Amino acid sequence: MSVFQAQKTALITGAASGIGFAAAKLCRSRGMHLALLDIDAVHLRQAQEELATVNPSLKTESYQIDVGDKNQWRKVVDQIKSAFTHVDLVLLNAARQQRAQSQYEGKLKPWADVESWKQTFDTNVFGTLNGVEAVLPLLLSSTTSKSIVITGSKQGITNPPGASTPAYNASKAAIKNLTEHLAHDLRSDPATAHISTHLFIPGWTWTGFMGNVGPTHEDTVTKMSGAWYPSQAAEVLVDGVEKGSFYIFCPDGDTDWALDQARMQWANDDMIEGRPAISRWETSWKERADEGIRADAVRRRT
Ligand SMILES: NC(=O)c1ccc[n+]([C@@H]2O[C@H](COP(=O)([O-])OP(=O)(O)OC[C@H]3O[C@@H](n4cnc5c(N)ncnc54)[C@H](O)[C@@H]3O)[C@@H](O)[C@H]2O)c1
Repeated sequence: MSVFQAQKTALITGAASGIGFAAAKLCRSRGMHLALLDIDAVHLRQAQEELATVNPSLKTESYQIDVGDKNQWRKVVDQIKSAFTHVDLVLLNAARQQRAQSQYEGKLKPWADVESWKQTFDTNVFGTLNGVEAVLPLLLSSTTSKSIVITGSKQGITNPPGASTPAYNASKAAIKNLTEHLAHDLRSDPATAHISTHLFIPGWTWTGFMGNVGPTHEDTVTKMSGAWYPSQAAEVLVDGVEKGSFYIFCPDGDTDWALDQARMQWANDDMIEGRPAISRWETSWKERADEGIRADAVRRRT
């Protein structure tokens, strides 16, 4: 049975902006109560105020939290337990993508800055693990259908190079790994089999990562044509959970499912075929990679 139903409760991290806010809006349109979590107090308050007006008879609570801090999770979960009778959907979605410090230029590439890896992992990986640990007891309180959705990224699968991306890619690869294990464990134990687990993998979405920060209105936002609006991604998320998919891939205006499949196939084949690492971006391989991926995508579409 779908968790996206009237009087169910959604707990969403990163709810003050982008995909998290869009998901909260969609949950509210289904008549759900909302527990909104984010580190950004100003935008969190705005998000809460806006969503509360949509249906004031439903609960809309907000909690400022740094998801990387275990102690803050403990306090917030206690508050959520007092405010809500049950939690049905948990969307662990908060993440950061930051530029590495430039002083490392010259010695190591800027992306190798250790501090920036630690900060990225604190939020994206340990923030998610803290969330899983803190919310699982809430989902065990009854055996009605519950869902945990964790937001990953295609960058955690295809691993594109770039000045600020390796730490982010690695954090999202870890997210894929941990969500797969979580799904395996929860479905294997009768005591937790009522909890479905999903890895949500957005495409290029016009959010705070692109400067569209906070609970913005899409009709006032100017975006690049290939990017999707957060509301489009949120619809794919809900559809994927309702279909029972574990991997919920989201396309965008530039990338359809066939192209995603071909890119993932190419990345895996680097290992199987003994090609250079991330050959798609290697000068001597780039042309062959582009052509191979294009042809594979065409074949998959027919
Ligand atoms: N936008 C894209 O193209 C894209 C693509 C793939 C994956 N994603 C993933 O989607 C998710 C949502 O990101 P978005 O694109 O909506 O960006 P966003 O910046 O609009 O939203 C991220 C939210 O997370 C919050 N946050 C960051 N650090 C936090 C912390 N330590 N504690 C609590 N909250 C924190 C931010 O304040 C922000 O409100 C992320 O997991 C991101 O990695 C985004």
